[in-house]
Amino acid sequence: MPKVSDYPHVGKAIVDAIQRGAPDVDLNELPNLQDMSPDKLTENVVAINSLDKNERRKYLLERLVQYMHTYVKETNLTTEEWMNAIQFLTKTGQTCTDLRQEFILLSDAFGVSALVDTINHPKPKGATESTVLGPFFVEDARTVENGDAIASEDKGEPMLVKGRITDTSGKGIAHCLIETWETDEDGFYDTQYAEYEQDCRGRLYTDDDGYYAFRCVKPVAYPIPNDGPVGQLLRSMGRHVFRPSHLHMMFQAKGFVELITSLYFKGDIFITSDAVFGVKSSLITDPQQVKDKAQAQKYGFKSDEFWLLERDFVLVTPEENKKQKQINDDELKKNLEKNHIKI
Ligand SMILES: [Fe+2]
Repeated sequence: MPKVSDYPHVGKAIVDAIQRGAPDVDLNELPNLQDMSPDKLTENVVAINSLDKNERRKYLLERLVQYMHTYVKETNLTTEEWMNAIQFLTKTGQTCTDLRQEFILLSDAFGVSALVDTINHPKPKGATESTVLGPFFVEDARTVENGDAIASEDKGEPMLVKGRITDTSGKGIAHCLIETWETDEDGFYDTQYAEYEQDCRGRLYTDDDGYYAFRCVKPVAYPIPNDGPVGQLLRSMGRHVFRPSHLHMMFQAKGFVELITSLYFKGDIFITSDAVFGVKSSLITDPQQVKDKAQAQKYGFKSDEFWLLERDFVLVTPEENKKQKQINDDELKKNLEKNHIKI
């Protein structure tokens, strides 16, 4: 069958575009897209997109188009509202820089990041739950010895975090990489300082039996970046922009699924209304204050008292993750079907 370039009277612009990689399609294979009534339009877009040879992308875009079209019809979206949305997304893109990702923030603020994480990292009973990574992780944190400090002591109230990393049977995981990062007592990450100087973050490895310990400071609550379009939208909606205090932790060990999580602190005023939906009840901790000079000295603190946060983490293998995901996917499918949502 003839392709576009086989037709004798196509203009130079089309010939050039095809030479530069635009698909040289067979016109006879294309669906007829002439009836553009609201009902037919969705079908037309899906039909033309169905030429995609990538089955997963075809499926994802088919569902996206169907949901978007349903949304427009169901809400009776006005032209003005649609333009506002386009302008909002344009501003969101324009706010992104090498150091700032406003689109991730948008995804966070609407719970999409948390949902994608939860669906992709389901945990069997007893395994530590994951949560959102957030925008403040850096790749090149310095390595400290197991038991050492990841934060300067003047950055906040001193805290010792210790525990064990195990598999689901309780066996310690040796040489597991732990990455951890947190705010200082003012609620700022080091990457937010006027002059970036690494602090309140570090990496360390568990010992032969999976035990770990490090000194840090007690992190505090902070606002998500809120001077851009996402912050403005949340303000207009009357939503606050704060995250409860938390300690980010990430674990990597051979033979286990990477775990990205955070520990939250009981009593934080934002614990029940995290702006990015990161809190899970299993991740809430309750550090104890230790007022004992000898203990403080034993762990290397200069002060006479410190917060003690004891916490074990349980990692899963790829097989355990896969098995749990299948169980959860089946459950999700059943619920969607129950609500008459076809997938
Ligand atoms: Fe954070």
